[in-house]
Amino acid sequence: MKLLLLGSGGREHALAWKIAQSPKIEKLYIAPGNAGTSEVGENVAIKADDFEAIKQFVLANSIDMVVVGPEDPLVKGVYDFFKNDEALKNVAVIGPSKAGAVMEGSKEFAKEFMQRHHIPTAGYKSITAENLEEGLAFLETLEAPYVLKADGLCAGKGVLILPTLEEAKKELKEMLSGMFGSASATVVIEEFLSGIECSVFVLTDGKNYKILPEAKDYKRIGEGDKGLNTGGMGSISPVPFADEAWMKKVEDRIIRPTVEGLAEENIEYKGFIFFGLINVKGEPMVIEYNVRMGDPETESVMLRIKSDLVELFEGVAAGNLNEKTLEIDPRAAVCVMLVSGGYPQAYEKGFPMTGIEEAKEGGSVVFHAGTAIKDGQTVTAGGRVIAVSSYGANKEEALALSFQNASKIQFEKKYFRSDIGFDL
Ligand code: AMP
Ligand code: GLY
Repeated sequence: MKLLLLGSGGREHALAWKIAQSPKIEKLYIAPGNAGTSEVGENVAIKADDFEAIKQFVLANSIDMVVVGPEDPLVKGVYDFFKNDEALKNVAVIGPSKAGAVMEGSKEFAKEFMQRHHIPTAGYKSITAENLEEGLAFLETLEAPYVLKADGLCAGKGVLILPTLEEAKKELKEMLSGMFGSASATVVIEEFLSGIECSVFVLTDGKNYKILPEAKDYKRIGEGDKGLNTGGMGSISPVPFADEAWMKKVEDRIIRPTVEGLAEENIEYKGFIFFGLINVKGEPMVIEYNVRMGDPETESVMLRIKSDLVELFEGVAAGNLNEKTLEIDPRAAVCVMLVSGGYPQAYEKGFPMTGIEEAKEGGSVVFHAGTAIKDGQTVTAGGRVIAVSSYGANKEEALALSFQNASKIQFEKKYFRSDIGFDL
């Protein structure tokens, strides 16, 4: 099979690494990819949301399957673009339709969907400039801290958590008057939930589903999960509190009602569903839906999938995922992200990197996130630079190996969190 993977981050390198292990793969292309994906496939200089260029490439290279990494092309309707095109409609696309991607593209839609299907989530109210007064009154009924979410996609920046009522009211007005452009023309005000978060991933063909290994990510830049939000500083899988009893609640109350709800509403969905959950006194509740895999969770989760991922994708495309098996590695897997000093604020790029081969020889799997090749040398090319993933009998063993190998990779102003997994 000839497969085209869309995207360019650490998540895509981890997906490409796993896909390339499938004996079914004759040729793997990644568009646009990064320095890491070029080790397991062939990079193609096409942007993940340039549908016309993707079409030409797919036709010229007889691509059988397209796997979509990031949310952007999905929200823009890449699935529908393929299915509505005579020449492309038989190409398998792993990712939901545009209607399905709204689960991530609109927080308001996701909340209404959960309400329709009785899926546990925080209480909320949806506010626009027209009913601002209602929003201010709703805030009065809540307790601090206050959660405000821009309805649309904001590259992970659209959620504000405010400590006082005054600030919440002020920020609500600012969001509605264009703080995030049209993405915050509607704002969802939510009840604050307190607990530890967990990311649960499902692969579905629209009817059947497989639950992939769950993971926890670490979003803040500083140790103790303090400081600014980042694209993710590390992840671990499994998550200790996500035991069999907890995961049964997740499946019964959240996963099954979601997959059935999508089918009932005739929303075509063949791809990943990422349930952003929070454990509130032992009860799982949904914080958000994403319509793709998590980053940097994928850099742990892919290590724990023993089965052929491409065969699972074939089941997704054909609608017979129930006939496929998903075998999970019982070992723990973790990922530690190395970032550029200054990130997530201003940082420099272009620093030469050394020690990547030594980290691999030391037993870790290394996934590139923001790197480039310059004059034959790997250099930093982003804030999140490279992920050091490892297996272990438990998370402590896996983390020890990742930290040991993280110290072998050198570049100027390297920083990483040495407390991944600390809270579990
Ligand atoms: P989201 O973009 O929806 O993932 O939100 C970003 C982060 O804000 C989440 O990962 C949570 O840590 C936090 N968050 C979002 N909604 C709530 C809520 N209702 N209660 C507490 N924390 C929340
Ligand atoms: N790790 C969270 C996300 O991918 O959105």
